[in-house]
Amino acid sequence: MNITTSIDGLVIRSFRIEDAESYSKYANNYNIWRFLRDEFAHPFTLAHAKEYIEKICLPNESSYFAIDYQGTAIGDIHIVKQTDILRLSGFLGFWLAEEFWGKGIMTEAVKAVTKYAFEKLDLIRIFARVFSNNSASIRVLEKAGYELEGRFKNAIVKEGIILDQLQYAILKPLEK
Ligand SMILES: CC(C)(COP(=O)(O)OP(=O)(O)OC[C@H]1O[C@@H](n2cnc3c(N)ncnc32)[C@H](O)[C@@H]1OP(=O)(O)O)[C@@H](O)C(=O)NCCC(=O)NCCS
Repeated sequence: MNITTSIDGLVIRSFRIEDAESYSKYANNYNIWRFLRDEFAHPFTLAHAKEYIEKICLPNESSYFAIDYQGTAIGDIHIVKQTDILRLSGFLGFWLAEEFWGKGIMTEAVKAVTKYAFEKLDLIRIFARVFSNNSASIRVLEKAGYELEGRFKNAIVKEGIILDQLQYAILKPLEK
C-alpha cells in the first residue's frame, strides 16, 4: 500500500520491520505520549517498536501506515475497522515525530488516509477520540473535515489529571 500526497517527499505506506529503529527513536517522546493512551509505552524502546510492527502493523497492513518523509518513517496513522454492529465504522489514530510538527504533514496524512479508507475499506464513518487539551490534534481533524460529535465529560485520566474526551467524525460522501 502506497498513497502519495500533495507534500513533496511525503508518502503514506505500509510498515516494514526496518522502520522499527526510526519508529522507536521518534515515539520515545513525552510530548507525544502525553496525548496518547497509557498503553503507548514510555520510554518507548526498539523492542516495543519491533513488537508493534510485527504483531499489529504487518498483519493489518491495509489499516496501519507509516508516515514516510524522504524515505524515513516519522509517524504512524491507522484506521481500524470496528466489528459487529460497528463494522462500517473505522477508528482513526495518529502521531508524528515532534521535529516535523507544524508543517501541515498530519493534516495531509489524515486527508489522504481518510480518502483511501472510504474508497477501499468499506467504511461509511471514521471517528477519532481526542483529549480536550489536545488543540493541535483537534485542529488537524477540523482541517481534514472531521466534525465534533460529542464530549465525554471526565472520561480520561492522564498523569493524574481528569480531562474530557472529544469525539470527532467524518461521514463518507454520498454517491452522486
Ligand atoms: C497532533 C499532531 C499529530 C499534529 O501534527 P502536525 O503535522 O504538526 O499537524 P499540522 O501541521 O497538520 O496542523 C497542526 C495545527 O494545529 C495548530 N496547533 C499546533 N499546536 C497548537 C496549540 N497548542 N494550540 C492551538 N493550535 C495548535 C497548528 O497551528 C496547525 O493549525 P493551522 O494550520 O491552522 O496553523 C502532532 O502534534 C502530534 O503527534 N502530537 C502528539 C500525539 C497526538 O496528539 N496524537 C493524536 C492523538 S488524538
